[in-house]
Amino acid sequence: MIRYDLALIGFGGVNRALAELIAERGDGLAAELGFALRVVAITDLRAGSLVRTEGAGIDLAPLLATAPGELDFSGLDGGSPEPRNEWVIRDVPADIVAEATFTNPVDGEPALSHVRWALEAGKSVCTTNKGPVALAGRALKRLAAERGAAFEFEGAVLSGTPVLRTAERMFDGLRISGVEGIMNGTSNYILGRLEAGLGLADAVREAQLLGYAEADPTADIEGHDVRLKVMIMANEVLGADLRQEDVSCEGITAIGARDIEEAAAAGLRWKLVGSAVRRPDGTVAARVAPAALPADHPLAGISGATNAVAFHTDLLGTVTVSGPGAGRTETAYALLSDIIAIHRRHLTGAETAPVRRTREETVRG
Ligand code: HSE
Repeated sequence: MIRYDLALIGFGGVNRALAELIAERGDGLAAELGFALRVVAITDLRAGSLVRTEGAGIDLAPLLATAPGELDFSGLDGGSPEPRNEWVIRDVPADIVAEATFTNPVDGEPALSHVRWALEAGKSVCTTNKGPVALAGRALKRLAAERGAAFEFEGAVLSGTPVLRTAERMFDGLRISGVEGIMNGTSNYILGRLEAGLGLADAVREAQLLGYAEADPTADIEGHDVRLKVMIMANEVLGADLRQEDVSCEGITAIGARDIEEAAAAGLRWKLVGSAVRRPDGTVAARVAPAALPADHPLAGISGATNAVAFHTDLLGTVTVSGPGAGRTETAYALLSDIIAIHRRHLTGAETAPVRRTREETVRG
């Protein structure tokens, strides 16, 4: 059976949830999909780094039994108090780097460097961070192709809800003329609470308490988070090459109680919509802006922290995918789906060859 050795970069909520999925479902995946996963390295800003490339790799059970704030790799066999991200990504033998660090959405760092180092080392990489994909997706994909590695990022938009892979499937025989979506759960939740009569500050506080909002909710309510996701959708689905300045961006902070009341009286609902549409000349127009949608619009009924993307196609009309846009397990599933995609490419001998060719690939027994 094929085995993939994984390096987990960042061991906060998402990669920890991925480790839980591997511990709980690894055997089932091996039986169902025909590959085994072994974690050989973990790095974390607070806990340091842990590398074990022999035998069964890192024993996940004791790590998962320790509270996140109490993890300390320094005293463990193969452990060090420093995260040593660059060394782990470049030099520790692994097939796939799973990147899920806290990353600044403005410059995409440190995730952007992590992805680049992995690809330069010829390793396949999956990330849940949108920054590297939105800001440097094209260059990173070129690098991946040059090095015969895979670069996967389903979790960058709508966490594990498979919008990017759904779009990829639709490329077979359909033309997609545009996409529009509710791609930020925090702002959608807040709009729902404004409709219920709350003020903006109280609604933001609620969203933070529920864990929907980014550490700094400005990116959620001013539309910056959606702008990155729109760039990814425009570039991946419509073949554009947009930069941030190409996407106009307006958030929800100017929507007042009166706007909400007037919309409700007219049977409309305010939504923060990110959209990208192909113009007749082939270029793509993209924007983020609040819109008062009629009840029959495919995005009007999306409530709470749920996200949705509507694809406008030539043969099927509008196809809408909705589901969670955040959450640790939901986002960890995105990484798992990326690993499965890397495995499938490997099996079909697609241009990417994620598995190190220098190492024995099979696990016996
Ligand atoms: N803070 C984001 C949201 C989730 O509220 O949808 C991560 O992109």
